[in-house]
Amino acid sequence: MMGRMKSQWAIRRLPLLFFLYLLAFPSIALTLQKQQKSISGPIKTVVVLVMENRSFDHMLGWLKRLNPDIDGLTGTESNPLSVSDPNSPKIPITDTAEFVDPDPGHSFQAIREQIFGSNDTSANPPPMDGFAQQAESMQSGMSKTVMSAFRPEVLPAYTALAMEFAVFDKWHASVPSSTQPNRLYVHSGTSHGLMSNVESELLAGMPQETIFDLIDEAGLSFGIYYQNIPATLYYRNLRQLKYAFKFHDYYLSFQSHAKQGILPNYVVVEQRYFDVKILPANDDHPSHDVAQGQKLVKEVYETLRASPQWNETLLIITYDEHGGFYDHVPTPVTDVPNPDGLIGPEPYFFGFDRLGVRVPTLLISPWIEKGTVVHQPNGPTPSSQYEHSSIPATVKKIFELNSDFLTKRDAWAGTFESILQTRSSPRTDCPEELPSPPWSLRHAPQNENAKLTEFQEELVQLAAQLNGDHALKAYPTLGKTMTVKEANDYVQSSVSCFLQASTKALKAGVLSESDIVEMRPSLKNRKAGPLGPSSCG
Ligand SMILES: *[C@@H]1O[C@H](CO)[C@@H](O)[C@H](O)[C@H]1NC(C)=O
Ligand SMILES: *[C@@H]1O[C@H](CO)[C@@H](O)[C@H](O)[C@H]1NC(C)=O
Ligand SMILES: *[C@@H]1O[C@H](CO)[C@@H](O)[C@H](O)[C@H]1NC(C)=O
Repeated sequence: MMGRMKSQWAIRRLPLLFFLYLLAFPSIALTLQKQQKSISGPIKTVVVLVMENRSFDHMLGWLKRLNPDIDGLTGTESNPLSVSDPNSPKIPITDTAEFVDPDPGHSFQAIREQIFGSNDTSANPPPMDGFAQQAESMQSGMSKTVMSAFRPEVLPAYTALAMEFAVFDKWHASVPSSTQPNRLYVHSGTSHGLMSNVESELLAGMPQETIFDLIDEAGLSFGIYYQNIPATLYYRNLRQLKYAFKFHDYYLSFQSHAKQGILPNYVVVEQRYFDVKILPANDDHPSHDVAQGQKLVKEVYETLRASPQWNETLLIITYDEHGGFYDHVPTPVTDVPNPDGLIGPEPYFFGFDRLGVRVPTLLISPWIEKGTVVHQPNGPTPSSQYEHSSIPATVKKIFELNSDFLTKRDAWAGTFESILQTRSSPRTDCPEELPSPPWSLRHAPQNENAKLTEFQEELVQLAAQLNGDHALKAYPTLGKTMTVKEANDYVQSSVSCFLQASTKALKAGVLSESDIVEMRPSLKNRKAGPLGPSSCG
C-alpha cells in the first residue's frame, strides 16, 4: 500500500537553516490547502480533544444537582465489595474525588468484572456492580476511590461548559477495553481488531483508513497540535510525508493559528502525557492533576472563543475510556455492529459487539442552545448509540463528505449535527472566559523520576519507532529504564526529528508523498532536549 523509505536516505543531521525555515513558516501547506472545498453549513472547523481515563459519573455525575435533566448521580448509588455475597458491605458513591493515585484497573478482564460483576457477560442490561470489587482486588481501599466523584465546583471549566453548551449523558467508549483501541475509534471507527495496547501492531502503525484521509481527499484541511508526542501517529497513514506539515507544536501554533483565523477544518489537540515540573501533564490520567486538565480546557476554549473563526467552530471534548471509575448507566450490549469483521485475539476472541462504559462528552459551539442535554440518538438504526465513532460519522455530515463510511460502526453510530441546527444565527452571549480551577488538586509535587506508566512506555516505543531506535538492542527495555523527565525529552526530540526528516524528504522530492521516512538509530549520540536541530544527529 505505502512505500517505505530505505535507510540509506535516512537523515542524520539537518541544516540549521532549514529548521529555522520550518519555524518561520509552519503553516504554509495549511494555508494553501485551506477552503478548496466549500461547506454549506455554518460549522467549518471541528476541534477534537480526547482526555484520559475517567467515567461520566466520576467527572460529571453530580451535575445533576445543577440540572436534574442530566442522567447523573442521586447519591443512592453503591457497589458491593463482593458481588456474590448478598450480605457484602456496600461502598456508596461519594462527592469527595480530588486527587487520584494510584490508577484503577482498565484491562478487558477488569472492565468485564466492573460491568457484569463476574465473567458472565450474558446480563442485559448489565448490572454495573463490580467496580468496587474489582478495585479492591487490585489494592485494599481502592474501592472508595473508584466510587468517588468530583463536585461541580472542583471542575469549574466543565461545569461552565455543560451549563452553557451541550453535555451528552449517553456517550459510551467504543470498546470495553483500554486506551489505544478507544483512541483509534475516534478518528477511524475501528481499532482494526486491536483489543488492548498491543505494542507490535501499534508500532508498525495501524493500517486502517482514517477521517484525516477522507478530509484530505475531499480537499479540506486538518491539523494536529501536539504537546509531547502526537498519539495520532499510531495511525500509519498519518506518518506519510504528505502529512508532515499537518503536525504543529501546540505552544508555537495553536493560539497563533486561531488568532489569524487559519485553523484547519479538522483540528486535534493533544495533551501533555508526561508529568514534569515546568509543564505538568494535563491529560487527566490518574495520578495527574485534574486541575491541569481544567486549565487546558479553559485555554483551548478561550483561544477558540477569541478567534475570528469562533462562529464557524465546534469543539468536542470526550474521554477515551472510563479508567476503572464507577458509572451507573448500563453499557449497551446488543446490536452493536462489529466494524470490519475483525475479532480480538485469544483468549477472549472479542467480537467488538458491545460498547464500553459511559464517558463524559461536551459539545461547544455558538450554534448550540444554552443548557442542552443530549440523551440517546434517533437512529440511524433503532440500536444506534453515541460513541467515539459518532465523531467521524458527524464530521462526514457536517463537511458533506461524499466518501463511504469508514466502517460499519461509524455507519451505525448516532450523529449529532441536529443540535447545531436549531438556530438561524450564532449566539452572541457565550462567555469569553471560563472560571479557573479553585486549587491544585495534587497532594505532592510532580515526581520527574517516577517510572513510566504503561501508556507512557508505549509513547516512548512509538518515539523509538519514528526515530529508528527500535532497531537498537536496548530497545525492548527503553521505556522501562527511563524516568518521566527523560521520557518527556526523548519523545519530544524524536518527534521533532521525524517531522523534520519527513518535511525535508518531501521538499527534496526524492520520495512519493505517501512514503514514510524510516530513520536510522542514533540513541547513543542523541542528546535529549526539546525541539532543536542538535537533537537529531
Ligand atoms: C474470570 O476470568 C479471569 C481471567 O480472565 C480468571 O482469572 C478468573 O478466575 C475468572 N473468574 C471466575 C469466577 O471464573
Ligand atoms: C489509561 O488506561 C490504559 C489501560 O486501559 C493504560 O494503559 C494507560 O496507561 C492509561 N492512560 C494513560 C495516559 O496513562
Ligand atoms: C459572530 O456572529 C455574531 C452574530 O451574528 C456577530 O455579532 C459576531 O460579531 C460574530 N463574531 C465573529 C468573530 O465573527
